[in-house]
Amino acid sequence: MTMTVEVGATTPRDSAVVGVPVFATGAVPRQVGLSRARLADLGLEAKPGQLLLLPAASGPTVIAVGLGPREHVSSRSLRDAAAGLARAAGGRTSVATALADVDVPGLSREAVAQAVAEGFGLGTYQFTEFKSAPTPSRLERVVLTASSEGRAAVERGARRGQAIAEAVSLARDLANTPPADLNAIDLAERAMVIAAEHKLDIEVLDELAMAELGLGGMLGVNRGSVAPPRLIKLTYAPRKPAATVALVGKGVMYDSGGISLKPSDGMHALMKMDMTGAAVVLATLSLLPVLKPNVKVIGFLCCTDNMPSGSAMKLGDVLRIRNGKTVEVHNTDAEGRLVLADGLSLAVEDGADAVVDIATLTGAVLGALGKKVAGVMGNDQSWVDQVRAAADRTGERVWQLPLVEDYRKLLDSNVADLKNVGGPYGGAIIAALFLREFVGDVPWAHLDIAGVMDSDADDGIFSKGATAFGVRLLADLLTHYEPVQAGSGVEAAVGP
Ligand code: BES
Ligand code: MN
Ligand code: ZN
Repeated sequence: MTMTVEVGATTPRDSAVVGVPVFATGAVPRQVGLSRARLADLGLEAKPGQLLLLPAASGPTVIAVGLGPREHVSSRSLRDAAAGLARAAGGRTSVATALADVDVPGLSREAVAQAVAEGFGLGTYQFTEFKSAPTPSRLERVVLTASSEGRAAVERGARRGQAIAEAVSLARDLANTPPADLNAIDLAERAMVIAAEHKLDIEVLDELAMAELGLGGMLGVNRGSVAPPRLIKLTYAPRKPAATVALVGKGVMYDSGGISLKPSDGMHALMKMDMTGAAVVLATLSLLPVLKPNVKVIGFLCCTDNMPSGSAMKLGDVLRIRNGKTVEVHNTDAEGRLVLADGLSLAVEDGADAVVDIATLTGAVLGALGKKVAGVMGNDQSWVDQVRAAADRTGERVWQLPLVEDYRKLLDSNVADLKNVGGPYGGAIIAALFLREFVGDVPWAHLDIAGVMDSDADDGIFSKGATAFGVRLLADLLTHYEPVQAGSGVEAAVGP
């Protein structure tokens, strides 16, 4: 069911559900029809995200939506509240709410409306393609009521939020799709359709083009796979861009580990999502014609399976990456960094002023930061800080890990320039140190999203399965881009 989000002056008379925002203190809005004491009796303390359904003998069902103390309301709490309301109302066809018109310190009207529209779009997300009897949300019409002076801003925010939710849903669909239904060729075909729809330039490199360019990382990882690899390059180019930013996404369509085969546990079934980085880059590019940032953006999607077979790359094999560096393979399951090495090399060659890669790269980052926070690392503090600021604004949380120079020698190889693994500890950092070898002096930030790629539960804007973490962050980063001075270095968080 496609859901439309409109902005209106008043609650339409035929709304099935009315969602009424209630702060922790102050007057309870008249539409709730109950005193604060009575609400508390019924269990609504108006904590953030708390909902109370108030059936009525006639007219719409009122749902009181707790927001907590006004001064603590954030774009995240609004997004989650809207997602909760969307779920609670999902059995009905229409909902009206003043949630996008709340006045909270530190957030513009536009930001509030954007968060609410994102929450509605994502709270109703489900991946139903393979269900025989799906029960999708029935919500068709969302009316965001807004007072007249703020209406234009609410409209702008709502439009942007809806576009963002659609892009995130697209990336979730791709990441949730079973590996047999989405190989690198399939993704390239999807990308062509999306590029045509959104007026992006697209170029798809096949295995022959890759051999000519010397993309040894891509071809090495692909060697065990029946399905050929694809490197998908998408470009968004405004007329007079202030800079060029490259986004590089890990597109491992299925990560079996290769001949360093993974054990067959629950985690193995999640490895269809090892292309989340590529899906996120594609979805972000698809948004740019709507968001219109004044930077040229080139997306590189490094797509291949990682499979074992008689032709698969072996431990001890040496691959030559596009930038000329050679890598001795010590573990075929450390494949993401091999495909990204080629993607990063190409991004630098294309003259990017700043680069971000996004990848489900290491189990180590999951151990370090858990399932709610992604790792960020980089070679330029001011660029990493821009990523952190975008994370703060969007609520897609990141935490910076240090690129500890002492660990670089763990990647030394006897026969090649580098090994692809560096021992059992500090895996997220070592992976980032490996990637750093392929970006030269260009400001670069690396997002390790292995921990946050999926959600165990329906929770706020997440539904069980792929999260598509990073679309909102990257879109925000590009729209707030500030020129980066190459060579600012990184804060040595662990001393010189
Ligand atoms: N795709 C995995 C990382 C991963 C793990 C993603 C868990 C999502 C959830 C990656 O290719 C991988 O296998 N990494 C290895 C690296 C190791 C061999 C150095 C890992 O983390 O174990
Ligand atoms: Mn792997
Ligand atoms: Zn992987």
